[in-house]
Amino acid sequence: MSLKERIDSLLEEARKIKLASAEESEKYRIRILGKKGEMNELFEEFKKIQPEMKKNIGQALNELKTAVQEKIQQAKNDFGSAQQADNGQADFDMSRPVEDTVGHRHPLSLIREEIYRIFGKIGFDISDGPEIEDDWHLFTALNFAPEHPARDMQDTFFVEKNGLNDVALRTHTSSVQIRTMKEKPLPIRTLCPGRVYRNEAVSARAHCFFHQVEGLYVDKGVSYADLREVLLYFAKEMFGSKTEIRLRPSYFPFTEPSAEMDIACSICGGKGCQLCKGTGWVEILGCGMVDPNVLENCGIDPHTYSGFAFGMGVERIANLLYRVNDLRLFSENDRRFLAQF
Ligand code: PHE
Repeated sequence: MSLKERIDSLLEEARKIKLASAEESEKYRIRILGKKGEMNELFEEFKKIQPEMKKNIGQALNELKTAVQEKIQQAKNDFGSAQQADNGQADFDMSRPVEDTVGHRHPLSLIREEIYRIFGKIGFDISDGPEIEDDWHLFTALNFAPEHPARDMQDTFFVEKNGLNDVALRTHTSSVQIRTMKEKPLPIRTLCPGRVYRNEAVSARAHCFFHQVEGLYVDKGVSYADLREVLLYFAKEMFGSKTEIRLRPSYFPFTEPSAEMDIACSICGGKGCQLCKGTGWVEILGCGMVDPNVLENCGIDPHTYSGFAFGMGVERIANLLYRVNDLRLFSENDRRFLAQF
């Protein structure tokens, strides 16, 4: 077959051939346009022919190349490229509208915002502070004596350990209360929300981090009765208007007197169940009157001013309201869990 005859027969093939898939098109491309394909062979031959033939044959070669390329482009439009076909994505439709992937509020955000709403109605604002704190804001200013065993009440993750200049991941947001008392003008009515860290083995019931909302009210004449009324109001707003509370004496270095607040178990209504371990009550938060030493440490005169403080775990409230029985679910970002709220 002469060079011209070979070109003509390939051209005829290019015009007639039906490429039925991305794979077929790729095979065809390799056979004709590939490194060792027909086209390169023809060009090698082309170099050797007499100059007066070059114009004609050159034109025919170009025509062939264009015809082959058009066929391959056509197949690409119809089936996608072979590479996409290999990935099983040949029929992936880029123009299809997305599935319903609208995000969901995280359950802890929902609870936290409800807490903001409840306390916002009675004039509490929100204060923020760092997650990495120094010893003074975490312990000393909060009336933990140096070497006092109360510092071990919370298992601290230390970032730097050098005596009284320790730096740690905050174990509670009471450190933000200290910052607020030092920085903001009186009276103070504020919430201190945020993530806190404690060195605990991760299980369904404990995690090495969780979220708190603490609250602080400092003014002239703030009393324990105010504390009780505010917390009762909160419990009723959060858990329903029939909710009962009880305050049990407790101990925190930064409050005196201190208490822990329980609500009547929302599941058994106080009769006793697994959640309340048969007692009819579940613990919700810690609270107390701000210790005069703490006020003094922040430059507030304890003879003129008094205050109350409280602190709660957001996960705990979420567990009670949503009956989530594994703490780890809150931080795993499993959409099947998150989509339920
Ligand atoms: N800071 C305490 C804790 O993390 C909670 C608390 C805050 C208790 C304010 C009393 C008053 O456990």
